[in-house]
Amino acid sequence: MSGLEEMVCVYMNPNSPIEARVKDLLSRMSLKEKIGQMTQIERSIATPSAIKDFGIGSVFSGPGNGPFESALSSDWADMVDGFQKSALESRLRIPLIYGIDAVHGNNSIYGATIFHHNVGLGATRDADLAQRIGAATALEVKASGIHYTFAPCVAVCRDPRWGRCYESFGEGTDIVRKMSSIVSGLQGQCPEGHQHGYPFVAGRSNVIACAKHFVGDGGTEKGISEGNTVLSYDDLERIHMAPYLDCISQGVSTIMATYSCWNGRRVHSIHFLLTEILKEKLGFKGFVISDWEGLDQLCEPYGSDYSYCILTGISAGIDMVMVPLRYELFVEELTSLVESGEVSMTRIDDAVERILRVKFAAGLFEFPLTDRSLLDLVGCKKHRDIAREAVRKSLVLLKNGKDQSKPFLPLNRKAKRILVAGIHADDLGCQCGGWTITKYGSSGRITIGTTLLDAIKEATGDETEIIYEQNPSKETVERDDISFAIVAIGEAPYAESRGDNSELVIPSNGLDTISTVAHKIPTLVILISGRPLVLEPWLLEKIDALVAAWLPGTEAQGITDVIFGDYDFKGQLPMTWLRRVEDLDQPTNRVKPHDPLFPLGFGLTYTKD
Ligand code: GLC
Repeated sequence: MSGLEEMVCVYMNPNSPIEARVKDLLSRMSLKEKIGQMTQIERSIATPSAIKDFGIGSVFSGPGNGPFESALSSDWADMVDGFQKSALESRLRIPLIYGIDAVHGNNSIYGATIFHHNVGLGATRDADLAQRIGAATALEVKASGIHYTFAPCVAVCRDPRWGRCYESFGEGTDIVRKMSSIVSGLQGQCPEGHQHGYPFVAGRSNVIACAKHFVGDGGTEKGISEGNTVLSYDDLERIHMAPYLDCISQGVSTIMATYSCWNGRRVHSIHFLLTEILKEKLGFKGFVISDWEGLDQLCEPYGSDYSYCILTGISAGIDMVMVPLRYELFVEELTSLVESGEVSMTRIDDAVERILRVKFAAGLFEFPLTDRSLLDLVGCKKHRDIAREAVRKSLVLLKNGKDQSKPFLPLNRKAKRILVAGIHADDLGCQCGGWTITKYGSSGRITIGTTLLDAIKEATGDETEIIYEQNPSKETVERDDISFAIVAIGEAPYAESRGDNSELVIPSNGLDTISTVAHKIPTLVILISGRPLVLEPWLLEKIDALVAAWLPGTEAQGITDVIFGDYDFKGQLPMTWLRRVEDLDQPTNRVKPHDPLFPLGFGLTYTKD
């Protein structure tokens, strides 16, 4: 297209109304270009020629899949802009959307602020905080050149055995609805009178968000990842769909379909849910994206009859397909399905209109490349202070003193000698959990941040001796000059089905440490976990105080701010704290736990209320 042509065409004119731009561009597109826009591929197989020749609509990084190990935001921005320049060389110069799972900060990128995982944010019940976290995350994502995050997960987790429990804001629909305010942080606040259901992205420091996974991902039987949610439609709507209404009213631009089933049918294949309900009844006007190889699951054996998978998923209402690897076959099969009439051009045009609408709303045609002025914001003090505030507000105090009249907390920061123990006391990777630098996360100093031990050292004075032993020796424990112990234990990082757990017990190395230390020394236990875990009666009796810290991220000073008394506890349980795993399978317990160890909403404070 010549410069003059570009000047006059409607879709290139930022002053034209979005719908006019969509209509004009769609009218210029070939079938191949339309199908290209519906195709999302993973970075590992993305090449300049593929992007340009196929007119690929979106590229994304699987968790941590960047230009190279420990790449900084500027390196990521170079990579993304490289892909974007290829897209802009396509015939119609349609920019691509680059996506990533920024689910608790820009968590794939070294040095980014890592916020609490959603379960901890749910414990805060603070919608304003969620919005500020969304805004900070958006800035750090855009600083790396990325336009799109597959977040927030607005699952309502009904069973802590689910490996993605920590990605949910909690088991209560009302909690998840409240915390969905993160969408307005990520995308920016919709202006008064914004058209219901229409995608909205405020400006260059905002990202395209993705409410996921629609619908019922957190309600599967026994919490099995990608399992089966057995519910009437009314209960599905009341429990699991309600948060999507809040996201849509905030102008969420995209929604990801869930792998899981509803009453035995894969949601990726259900036209009633994806089209009749989501698009027609709820009025969603952004685009619906599949999950990773979400279409391949629609036939047995997996992906074998790919044409059938594509026909089923696209017909159901999937608009963009996270293929993400065998895209040539995807394009070829979908082209055949359209040419044979099995997939109508009306369906294709609906999908492409939605995709283009989001791209125009996000300003991608005007600002396709990275705003490098944002780079200084990555991991900045302001963002880390927000993360620290979230940690403070997320902590749930479950026990404070063996005797109600003699609270154990707050601790004395001027104590003569403190023992710090446990495998989670000095482990940044464990306190961040999964979806951090890599998909499944890992132990160790994996990025820049403050461990609990770092924070304890910062919070106490020079006159206090800190003894740190992951697994304290008998000699240490037998000493009679230790004021108290802080033992941090919990779960190792995990994600998705690798986190499915039918036992929910504290890993044995943690229990052994508690038993050894609490036997002789007044002990505070800090539990670092993505969900409630079974607490043995002996443990609760032996220890002096217990704090659920969830997966706090890089700013553990938020923990010491509270345990040493600078701030009071505010956290309320986002999940019922089970007494026994067997309780989860009692029908009544699924809705109203009749014998929990601690009920939903429980949380002690320093102030006598
Ligand atoms: C995963 C997850 C989804 C994520 C996607 C891309 O399988 O289910 O939450 O956004 O793949 O990483």
